Amino acid sequence: MSLKDVQENWNKFGEQDPLWGILAWPGKEEGRWDLESFFATGEAEIAAVLAYVDGLDVKLHRGAALDFGCGVGRLSQALAAHFTEVHGVDISPAMIDRAQALNRFGERCHYHLNDRDDLSLFADNSFDFIYSNITLQHMPPRFAAAYIGEFLRVLKPDGILLFQIPSQPRQWWRRLVQPLKPTRLWRLYQRLRYGEAPVMAMYGIPRHRVEQLLRRHGGYLLDVTADESADVHWTSYRYCVGKQAPE
Ligand SMILES: C[S@@+](CC[C@H](N)C(=O)[O-])C[C@H]1O[C@@H](n2cnc3c(N)ncnc32)[C@H](O)[C@@H]1O
Repeated sequence: MSLKDVQENWNKFGEQDPLWGILAWPGKEEGRWDLESFFATGEAEIAAVLAYVDGLDVKLHRGAALDFGCGVGRLSQALAAHFTEVHGVDISPAMIDRAQALNRFGERCHYHLNDRDDLSLFADNSFDFIYSNITLQHMPPRFAAAYIGEFLRVLKPDGILLFQIPSQPRQWWRRLVQPLKPTRLWRLYQRLRYGEAPVMAMYGIPRHRVEQLLRRHGGYLLDVTADESADVHWTSYRYCVGKQAPE
């Protein structure tokens, strides 16, 4: 599966039912989310995230923040109430268009369309805070791994990175099927089963591999917590990471 496939799939959610594509809560499909309660979930999430980071023995500077996989800006808008400048990045043009239309913070909140497997649109050491939730779980692991490396490149030396990614399916048979998912055979099966409808595909990276990846890119773990935001069939973690200052 290429990044183009990921983009096509997510752009369908962005065109058809973006709010439900982002938060697939029962009863909210087919345009039933109202904007106020949708954005209120983002405010509550970011308030909890900032309280969590404040509880760690670290200083979070409230300068520039990155929201990776921003969708229509549910979390970027909430971050903009706490940070001087926010950059939301997404692969779907339809999501980015909607995010721009819903932006309440003008120039302080920028949205970027990025269809690359890197974050070359940002310079090294750009962000005080990087946040990504329920996004890395929806792409083949090789892309998620590349973005995690990029998060550490664009994080300031004293910045904080916080991201969620599932580790593995809970059931053995789901673990067996998982390696098939990024293949053409699986795509064919999905086409036959779902037709042209977008699909909420789930992927993960085992926790020990995420920790290796972070070390390789100069990150050090501040904290790891079990996370409940992924699909119930997966174990998932939220990683809070600092960046080692260059020697
Ligand atoms: C479930 S939504 C979550 C949106 C947002 N994080 C939130 O919680 O409100 C996942 C988002 O990730 C985006 N996405 C998927 N793959 C991506 C990629 N490779 N780069 C950037 N965004 C991506 C999708 O377009 C979608 O907007």
